[in-house]
Amino acid sequence: MSWRHLAVATEAVLRAGAVQRERYGRGVQVEYKGEIDLITEVDRACELAILETIRSRYPGHDIVTEETDLARTGSRFVWFVDPLDGTTNFAHSYPTFCASVGLAVDGELAVGAIYDPIRDELFTGEKKAGSHLNGRRLHVSSAGTLIQSLLITGFPYDLHQKLATRLRLFNRIMGRARAVRRDGSAALDLCYVAAGRADGFWEEILKPWDMNAGRVILEEAGGRATRFDGTPLGLGSDEILATNGLIHDELVAVLREETQAALV
Ligand code: IPD
Ligand code: CA
Ligand code: CA
Repeated sequence: MSWRHLAVATEAVLRAGAVQRERYGRGVQVEYKGEIDLITEVDRACELAILETIRSRYPGHDIVTEETDLARTGSRFVWFVDPLDGTTNFAHSYPTFCASVGLAVDGELAVGAIYDPIRDELFTGEKKAGSHLNGRRLHVSSAGTLIQSLLITGFPYDLHQKLATRLRLFNRIMGRARAVRRDGSAALDLCYVAAGRADGFWEEILKPWDMNAGRVILEEAGGRATRFDGTPLGLGSDEILATNGLIHDELVAVLREETQAALV
């Protein structure tokens, strides 16, 4: 059945992506959820398109979506929706953002679909059936050490309050890797590791809708995703370390060094 779920996830992100493409670069009304955490009318329009798509096929399924707190019924099927991942980029006309939809069945991730409307790139993943970019099979990179690796990270919206702490970890990893990028869409960051464009990604203070769809795509491309300390992720985890698998232990060790240094 999960190919049908994937078809619905795909239709949902393509619909949201069409809204994003049409509204991109035209100026957008911004509201504030926090000092630097934005929401726009486009986030809401994309959420509506995605919810309509899912509910028209699966009215009994639960949905966890960023902009609306929906009641859960205890369904075996739980959708995770980020209607516009990269809102800050979108609001600044910086062309890196996407729509992201994932599904868990009986507590296990089953499918993920993520669409970047600017590059017309559709990333999909289905448990035991692999991941694809516009229909082409994806595989993670073969970089074997951090010094050969291009990594990606992101920073949470409380960055200004905790600048020194957040930058300490960033500095430590920056000092070991070939390069580190920060592009502003956690969902696309995970897809880029899945596609072998980057070798690893780490970020803390994420939400389930930021990473659950991307995690299926990454894992089905042969990648590995855990918490920072290497332990398994749950559907509600708030941090992710995602790599090509080969550099995972080395990165866990660097993250552990930072945890130990913070205790001193
Ligand atoms: C954000 C993006 C960003 C990450 C933030 C997320 P949003 O999602 O994924 O890359 O650094 O932590 O909150 O708010 O644009 O959906
Ligand atoms: Ca997000
Ligand atoms: Ca969002």
